[in-house]
Parts: sequence; C-alpha cells; structure tokens
Amino acid sequence: MSSRYPAAWLDELRSRSDIVQIVSGYVALNKKGRKYWGLCPFHGEKTPSFSVDGEHQLYYCFGCKAGGNVFHFFMEMEHCTFNEAVEQLAERAHMTLPELEKDEDYERRRTQRERLLNANKEAARFYHETLFTPAGAASLAYLRKRGLSDGIIRKFGLGASPDDWCTLSDRLMEKGFTLDELVLAGLTVRKKAENGKERYFDMFRSRAMFPIIDAYGNVLAFGGRTLEKREPKYLNTADTPVFNKRKGVFAANLLRQQRHLDRVILVEGYMDVVSLTQFGVEGVCATLGTALTAEQARLLKRYAPQVYLGYDGDSAGQHAILRGLEILEQENVPARVLDFPDGLDPDEFIRRDGAEGFRKLPAISPAAYRLRRLKDGFDLSAQDSRLAYARSASEIVSAVDPLERDVLLGQLSVETGFSRETLLEQMNLSAQKASSRPKDQPARPRTPRAPVSAQPQGDDLRAQELLLSLFASGQIPKDMIEEKDFDDDELKSLYRELAAGASPASLPDLAPDETSRSRYTRLLLTPTAGSTDEMIAMANDCLIRIRKTSLEKRYEELSQEISSASGEQLSALLQEAREISDKLKKLK
Ligand code: GTP
Ligand code: MN
Repeated sequence: MSSRYPAAWLDELRSRSDIVQIVSGYVALNKKGRKYWGLCPFHGEKTPSFSVDGEHQLYYCFGCKAGGNVFHFFMEMEHCTFNEAVEQLAERAHMTLPELEKDEDYERRRTQRERLLNANKEAARFYHETLFTPAGAASLAYLRKRGLSDGIIRKFGLGASPDDWCTLSDRLMEKGFTLDELVLAGLTVRKKAENGKERYFDMFRSRAMFPIIDAYGNVLAFGGRTLEKREPKYLNTADTPVFNKRKGVFAANLLRQQRHLDRVILVEGYMDVVSLTQFGVEGVCATLGTALTAEQARLLKRYAPQVYLGYDGDSAGQHAILRGLEILEQENVPARVLDFPDGLDPDEFIRRDGAEGFRKLPAISPAAYRLRRLKDGFDLSAQDSRLAYARSASEIVSAVDPLERDVLLGQLSVETGFSRETLLEQMNLSAQKASSRPKDQPARPRTPRAPVSAQPQGDDLRAQELLLSLFASGQIPKDMIEEKDFDDDELKSLYRELAAGASPASLPDLAPDETSRSRYTRLLLTPTAGSTDEMIAMANDCLIRIRKTSLEKRYEELSQEISSASGEQLSALLQEAREISDKLKKLK
C-alpha cells in the first residue's frame, strides 16, 4: 500500500493514535502478558485470538491472520480506504493534513477516474429515468414480468437503455464529456465505417440495465439484460480504468449499509441478488460473470464472518461451488453452501418456495457438500463402486474437526454399509498419507537439488523469521546481523527498513497485499522472550543456524565446481573451501 503522505507525518499520526485506545472503541480488550486480547471483530469466535500489541502498535489475529497497524484496523472496521482512514484519524488527533506530495501522473489518473465515474453516474441516472418513459416501457414491462416491484427497482437503480443508436452518447457529450472518455468508460463504441468515416454508438441498446455500484456509491460499470432471446443474454462492461470485474461484487453498496451481517450470500446472477433482496434476504451479492477470485473473497471477509455460496443448482453452478470453496479456504474465510434443489437458481427457488422455504434451506458445510457431489459420481448399489466411494469419502472426512467427523461418519456408514470403526480406520490411513513427508516414501523420485537462490524453507526460514522478530524489538545490537543473513526477499526488505530506523508499526503500510501485510505484522509483533540477554542469546542461535546452512550450501557448490576445475581456478576454489571448512568448525 503506497501512500502519498510524507512518512514522518504518518509516523507522528500513528504515535498520536494509540492502537490500544482505538481498538478499545470496538473490541473489549483484556491485558494478558505483554499484549491485550479480545474477540476478533473480523471472524466469528468464542475464545479470544485477537491480540493488540501496545509496544509495537500492531494488531494481529492468530485465528484469521488479520493484522496491521492502526490505519489498517480502522480501514477494516469502517470499510474505508487507507487515505480515508488517515484523514479520519488525523481529525481525531487534531492534526492538519499535510500538502499531498505532487505527482503529476497520479493527478492525471485521478482526474480521469473522477470524470469516468461522473460519466457513469450520469449514464445510470439516464437509464433509470428512461425506464419510466415510453423509451423504457419494454424494459419496465420485462422487469415487472420478472416480479420486481417498483420499490426494488429504485433500490437497485435499475434502468433501461433505449432502442436507439446513440441517445446516451449524445446526451453525455452535450454535458461536456469527450467521445474518448465515453469509449474509455465502456459506454460508447467507436467504429470505422466502410467509407473510412468514423462513427460511434451506445454500447447498451434496448436492454434492462443493472448498475454496478461500489461500497462508496461510485457507479463502476453496467450489466444489461436482453429483453428477448438475444445473445449475449447479459452484456457487461469490459474492464476499464475504473472497473475490474475480478475485484468487485454486484451490490457492494448495499452490503456496506447492512451492518452486523452474520453471513454474506454470494450468488451468480444480478437477477438473483435483486430477487432475494426483494424477498427480504439480507447481505446478498454476486460476482460479475466470473469465477470467485481471491480478491473478492478478501473483500467479502470484511462484511461478514462467513460466506454462503448460493450458486445455481445446475452442473456449472455445482462445479463453481467446489472451486469457490477452495478459494475461500485459501483465504481463510469460513464458508457454507446453499444447495438449490432441482437445478434451480436462487431467484427461481425463492419464487417457487418463498422466503420461508429459503430460510429453511440448510447451509451445509464444505465437507458435507463435497461428499454430496462425490456421491453423485458413484452407483452405491454396486459393491466396487461403494468401496471406491467410501475410500474417497474417507479422505474428505479425515480433514474435518472431530464433531463434524462424527456426524459425517454416521451418514457415510448408512450410505455405504461399512461400520463406523472400519471407516474410522480407513480415515486414519488417509490422514497418515496426507501428513507423511516425502522422505518416508522411498518410491518417490528424488527431488532435484534446489537452486542456490531458492527461498529458504522449513527450519531455516523459521530461524530467519525469528531473527527478524528479535531484531524488530530494538534490543539486538545492530552490528550483530547483516542483510545477507536473510535470503527471503520480504525478510530482507523488512530488515533493511528496520536497520534504517523505520518503526515496526510503519512497515505494514509497505505490504503489497493483505497476505504480506498479515505476515509482516506477525513477524513484527513484540517477541515474547524476556530479557535483552535472552533475546541476544536466541538471535545468536538463529544466526549460527542460518550461517551454517549458507556455508554448507556454498561448500556443496564448491565441491561440484572443484570436480571440473583446473589450474589457478582450482587452487582458488580449494582455498575458499578450506576457509569455509574453518568457519564451519568455529560455528560448531
Ligand atoms: P436470468 O436469466 O435473467 O435470470 O439470469 P440469471 O441471473 O439467472 O443469470 P445466469 O445464471 O444466466 O448468469 C449469471 C451471471 O453470469 C449473470 O448475472 C451475468 O453476470 C453473467 N452472464 C450471463 N450470461 C452472460 C452472457 O451472455 N455474457 C456475459 N458476458 N455474461 C453473462
Ligand atoms: Mn435466473
């Protein structure tokens, strides 16, 4: 996250916005040891794993791995951008905002962004107004035929694009937007005609319009549904300077208004969102015609502690659910599945069974859903098939917690006819297979030796991480550690910043994404080790381990080089090998 505020000013603001005090405004904290603890506001939990480190001014949840400094906490709680968080905290701390650093390209992009968003807003207004005029009559009739009330049409700002070539484009150019801007916004299409002359026309014609609005009320893009059976069924704005379909969701503006949601329901279609909302279901949103992305999963995590996948009940939807569950798992977002019966989509289902039927639909766990899909592929009346199903199912069930395992085990036993004990034994086998390390499996081909520049792994990486944590405490003598003791890029850059005098609290600002921010924060928390002497001793242990590994690596390389070297080069290599071997002896 790069910020345009001067670093020193941000440091000052951070030190005047005590994180313990700010967090206490949202979360009840108790001091235990050197840190404060409370229930994490970012995921549901019953025992506190959310910690606030008053010394280094960081927060970190050991459950969901959310972490950062006071700015990030504020951003997440208030669903705002970094700069908005800075502005609001500055106001609380009675600090005036500094002149923003001048960056002409940034200014140009910001102006362009503003103009495109304005053009979109004007377009949304135009479509919405048109819906209630003769030019929009067909769209209005279509939306009403689909059961939408005028109230819900207004809530979502739905509209109509007229059955003309360029009404919208002309209207917006009259208002001062240039053709270039309209093309850039995806509202207008420019084409060279056969005679070489250029012409333009509106992107959306004769469609019911769904504006895509972000959490801050900006109109980013549109989806337009054909009123007849024309292709494409939905025409969506392609990516533009203000719209990236992989990053946003449809109805983000409504999510933000619905506070304290206990889950978000993610569906596939615009129509599903509008329809469920009309039936009184809260917290519904949709991806924008793409599979769920990691960015979207992280976005949803901000609005509720868990996500329900409510995709269509057809086979494409079922496949998308399995994929979606993987993404949510990778991003540590607790998930459940609404499995719509009879191949229905959410809109069709709620119209058939009503709000009551929807409420009764069970939200099933990822493992239960995976089992359900797995079972579809087997004919359980045949013994071979039952065996194969039981084997694969055991793998799924072995990964869940003991309570759910007990439930699924019962179900599986009924389905397959195997006793619980047998299934449990099979499960233990699966679990062992999953956790056994490659070296226990002699049949595996040997992995090629890692290249020297590879990122460190396992114990070495942990030693480097611990070393960095200890260094961040400020209690390790500076000359004890060198930059080359770290060979992980992120650790190297954190070390460099700390050595140059940056405070631990300032470093999460530099993280390129949330995963790195979480890692930076975890590493920069005040170490639990006690006295300075103890910390220095631990740092020393880490250094010995790290330096030993790196010398050994070099030694191995040397022996390779030596085997093919001769003359002067050979004696230089031998000399280096002797030196390394001496150093290694000293380290032992
Ligand atoms: P209705 O038939 O109006 O009920 O549509 P739906 O909401 O059931 O949507 P559907 O399941 O057909 O599609 C889900 C989503 O995929 C839509 O909301 C669109 O975002 C996207 N989509 C559907 N059809 C097309 C298409 O032809 N082209 C593109 N680009 N996207 C589409
Ligand atoms: Mn539908």
